[in-house]
Order: sequence, then structure tokens, then C-alpha cells
Amino acid sequence: MSAHNIDSVLIENRKFKPNPNFVARARIRKQEFDALHKMAAEDYTGFWAKQARELLSWHRPFKQVLDDSRAPHFTWFADGSLNVSYNCLDRHLGSRANKNAIIFEGEKGDVRTLTYQQLTDEVSRFANALKAQGIRSGDRVVIYMPMIPEAVIAMQACARIGAIHSVVFGGFSSESLRDRINDAGARMVITADGGNRGGKIVELKAATDKALAGGCPSIDKVIVCQRTKHNIPMKAGRDIWWHDAIAKQNTDCPPVWVDAEHPLFLLYTSGSTGKPKGIQHSSAGYLLGAILTNLWVFDLRESDIFWCTADVGWITGHTYVAYGPLAAGGTLMMYEGAPTIPDAGRFWKMVQEHKVSIFYTAPTAIRALMKLGDSFPNKYDLSSLRLLGTVGEPINPEAWMWYHTVIGKEHCPIVDTWWQTETGSNMITPLPGVTATKPGSCTIPLPGIAADVVDEDGNSITTPNQGGYLVIKKPFPSQLRTIWGDDARYASTYYPKFGGKYYLAGDSARKDEDGYFWIMGRIDDVLNVSGHRLGTMEVESALVAHPKVAEAAVVGRPDDIKGEAIFAYVVLRGARPAGGVDAAITKELRDWVGEQIGAIAKPDDIRFADNLPKTRSGKIMRRLLRNIARGEDITSDTSTLENPDILLQLQGKV
Ligand code: WT7
Repeated sequence: MSAHNIDSVLIENRKFKPNPNFVARARIRKQEFDALHKMAAEDYTGFWAKQARELLSWHRPFKQVLDDSRAPHFTWFADGSLNVSYNCLDRHLGSRANKNAIIFEGEKGDVRTLTYQQLTDEVSRFANALKAQGIRSGDRVVIYMPMIPEAVIAMQACARIGAIHSVVFGGFSSESLRDRINDAGARMVITADGGNRGGKIVELKAATDKALAGGCPSIDKVIVCQRTKHNIPMKAGRDIWWHDAIAKQNTDCPPVWVDAEHPLFLLYTSGSTGKPKGIQHSSAGYLLGAILTNLWVFDLRESDIFWCTADVGWITGHTYVAYGPLAAGGTLMMYEGAPTIPDAGRFWKMVQEHKVSIFYTAPTAIRALMKLGDSFPNKYDLSSLRLLGTVGEPINPEAWMWYHTVIGKEHCPIVDTWWQTETGSNMITPLPGVTATKPGSCTIPLPGIAADVVDEDGNSITTPNQGGYLVIKKPFPSQLRTIWGDDARYASTYYPKFGGKYYLAGDSARKDEDGYFWIMGRIDDVLNVSGHRLGTMEVESALVAHPKVAEAAVVGRPDDIKGEAIFAYVVLRGARPAGGVDAAITKELRDWVGEQIGAIAKPDDIRFADNLPKTRSGKIMRRLLRNIARGEDITSDTSTLENPDILLQLQGKV
């Protein structure tokens, strides 16, 4: 898609002023907000240095702020040192030792709480266990766990000793797990016997065994947390139960002070080519973004119960579950299971029972729950809620209004937060006590975030509602530092245009007459399925890895619930099934992709053809495939098509 021909089809005129009751108590009000913007405009690095000094606890204070001498590789606060786990735990023990850090509920209804003291003790014991297994600062540790407190404990324990974690979402397959282990060169996997999800056991240990059997030479040990207690094989000499690993460890584990730029974690995300990118985040800059947005955007306070429903396998679960709320001294809610177990009231029942005050989820979840009807939320007392958030993809105004009225009872501000795995924390978002919201817009950039919409030459687009490239014009502390092991790919992916000066987000956007940002979609061939990015290439590579498949092309089409559904065009090695459909092979290929990548990547539709639409130079014409998948007429020029006859097959007409 070229940014030039992005036309805006969505005009939304409703505007909601911040609720005066909320404003009266908000951490950031108009006056503070204006002052922050002014400070950031007048003294950009001074602004960030001030935030870093006020919000983080340093072991060795920094003098250096931004170093851009190796652009586009930037460093922040580089001569300072700190420890992320110290910032999330130890520093709260004076006043918050007995405050709940985590309230956890399992899918089966089991509830467990951990105070700051208890969490610090558990993290320290487990960090000692990691050390006893030979893990040292800089080693990579893969975490493949269900949404249970031990996932956060494992992440924090790595941070405590300077080990670099890479959390792999439990819904990813053994193949994806193996690729990520090998790319990171991880020494250890931390997993569980299983997790409870959707009334079933997610076989995490079995998937780990399968991944390792396929060849992961860097792995020495596997630590297995007992969650489901069903029978699983343990491999002698390699596998250790979590409870055995911590049995002899004490709760005294001094944090390892690391340089500000020490990598805190890697998190793999999809790109437009087949190979996932290990997004590498720093310690101090990342944590600054996490704490600052938890305080400013989520207005997190002493008495709040903050529930971000994201899995720790995604960036949202890092910044708004495992790190940010703890750095801010908050209480977080964590839920193991599916939103519809035992029924679609589960989230709302938990809001009532645990008195959740801040709730942050994805449009895909909002739409799915909206479809199931108002009777579920209406059964519960949602009066504890004071702030709602959404993230992952543009939220359609209909879902926004439902969230606003049925869940927020028209008094909770909604923060529609635009950001990415790479940005580490919220970038463009309303502040709940300041910004008037418009359904479907993520509104305006945070103070200190130089986001803009530019044309092909990098010039700011000043005509309202004209689409262009979403860029961030200045480096910022929480941004990714590189792609693990691939500095060149980092530069060519995020700084390919505009003289390498602006961070290119890969989204197209427009600004309206109030300067509000509206995200229009991705500019590359990346799908957004249920709020998660998937490269079309990854799905295509998985399809062609099947022995029956000769060629495949994948595009997205709009889907009511998931945002985007996956439509695959497949050329088989044998004959084309009559009419281009075949239920049996379709099922076989869907299951195959599920095994190769994970259930999230299973194509929703598969159409078989004798060939794909190609230009004379052999390039697949994706625009045509998108038109067909969306049921649109083909209006674009097909004269460059090498094989125009193929269109009827692709459309399912013959
Ligand atoms: C992409 C990043 C950030 C955590 C979840 C996804 C899309 C994200 C919004 C929003 C419109 C959004 C963008 C972005 N996106 N938030 N509020 N409005 N689009 O993280 O997998 O790194 O994906 O998600 O396209 O580039 P991710």
C-alpha cells in the first residue's frame, strides 16, 4: 500500500470530554499536561532526564542522557546503573510490604494473592535457583508459561540477575518455540507441565520437549513449574521441577546492578519476511516508559486494582503486567484462562469480585464479548471501574460505544493507546484527565513523543485527514535498541526512509482537524489478527512447507471479531480440487499451520487455484488477492498480469 492513495473512509464526529469527577483527582491535569509538553519542546533531553531521575531508583546516577552519535542506534542514561527488579520490588518494601502486588485467579476459580514482600521473596528464591543452575548476567532464558504468577516471578528473577528473558506466548507451537530458542541462543527454558485454558490443558511441557527434540543445542536445563499436575515425562539431567529448584534456596538475592543499556529482554515479533525479529529492549529506558505510562495514562494510584488482560507472551503483558504496574507500586490482577469460561460473564464477574478499577484489553476481546450480549456484563456490579483502555488495533466506533456505555456506564474515560512491541510503551493516547476522546482515534502523542504523519519525502502532512506514514521524529527512551543479532535489519526496517532520521512505525495514519491521530492500517504485508501482528510471509512459509503445497499467498480480509481474518490462496502439487474448495485438504492445512506457528495463524479461508496472479516479472499481485478476499470488484489494472485467466479461479467462479 502506498501512503498516497490511502483515503479516509471513516468520519466520526462524536467527542467525549473528560469526566469532571475523574479530572478532579487525576494525576495529570491540563495544567501539568501543558507544562510537560512545554518542557519537552524546550529541552527534550532535559525533560527525559528529569523523568528518569524522578521515577527510577538508580544505583549509579547517570550524567549522560541521549547519545545519538551512532544513530539509528541510540542510548539513554548510558553511564547510569540500576536493577529493574529492585525498582519493581525492593524499593516498595518500606511502605508497601504488605500491599498486594498480584491478585491471581486461575481458570478454575482458584485465587492467590502475593504481597510485595511475598513476591520479592519468591523472585529472590527463584533468582537464586537460576544462579544455582549456572545462569549468569547476559545469558538468555526462554519463558514459555501459562498466565500464572510464576511467569512474572520468572521474568523478574531474570531481571534481578541480569539474565535476558525471551517470553514465548504459550499459544505458539513447538516449531515457533524452537526457532526463538535458537535465534536467541537461550541456555534454559522455563515452562510448566501445562496451563488451563478454555477448559483444556495447554500442553506446554510436551511442546517444549518436541521443540528441544528438534535440536536446540544451546539449551542445558528446563525448569518445569507444576500447575496442572497431570502426568508428564521429565528428562533426567535436563528437567528440574520448579519446586525442587527453589527448595534449598533462601530469599536473600542481592540485585545485580546493570548498565542502563543492558538488555532486559527480547520479544519476538512478526515482520514482513519469514523470520521473526527478536526485539531487544533496554533496562532503564524501557522501564521509564513502562512506569511513566502506568502513572500518566492509567493514572495508577495506591488504591487501584489494575487489570490488563494481555498474556505475558506479548509486549502488553510485559509493560502493563510484569513490569509497569509493579514499578509504580500498584496492585495487578492476573487471570489464567479464557474470557468465556464458564460463560461470557467471566471478566465482569472478576471485575466485581476483585473490585477492579482499571481495565485494559484489546478490541478483539471487546467485540467478541459485545456479540455475546449485554446480559453478561449487566449481571455484575461494575461500579469499581474508573478507567478503561484498549490496544492492539483500531477500535471500531461501535465497539468503542459499547465499551463506553455498557462497561464504563458512561463515566469511565477510555484510553485508546497506540504503540508497538518496538516502542515498549504507549506513544499516542489520551490522558484520561485531559484529553477529549473520539471513538476510534488514539488522539494525540504523549509529551516527549514526537509522532507525526509525513508524506513520501518526510514532510509533515498539514492537510487534515490526508493519510501518510506514521513516524516518530526523535529517539525516545523506551524504543527498541536493535533486532537481536541483526543491527542491519534493525536499521533497514525502522529507519529505511527520510534519511534515516525518523522511526518508521509501519502504520499509515491521518490527523484530523484537531490534530487527532487515526490509525489506518499497516503499510507492509503484515496482518493484524486479534490485535497481534502476523507476517503474511510466515503463514506462507508454513503453508509451502507442507508436502502437498507448491505455492501459497496470504492476505487479510476484515473480520468482525478478529479485526483481520487470514485468507490463503494455495497452489497444490497435484490437481486443483473442483471449484477451488476442498474441506479435507483445507482442514489438513489449517491444522498444519496451527502446528507450525500456532492456532492464531490458522487461515480462515483457503482457496485452491492452478496458479497465483503474477506480473510478468513474477511478483504476486497481492492487491488483487486482497480485492478478491474482501469480495470487492477488481478495479485495478490487470494488464500486467501474466495469466489473467487465473482470476476466475481465484474468485471461486470456476
Ligand atoms: C501494531 C503493533 C502494542 C501492543 C499490542 C500490539 C496496531 C496497536 C493500536 C491502536 C490502532 C493499533 C498498529 C501497530 N495497533 N495499538 N490503539 N489503534 N492500531 O503490538 O504486535 O507490536 O503491533 O498494532 O498497527 O503498529 P504489536
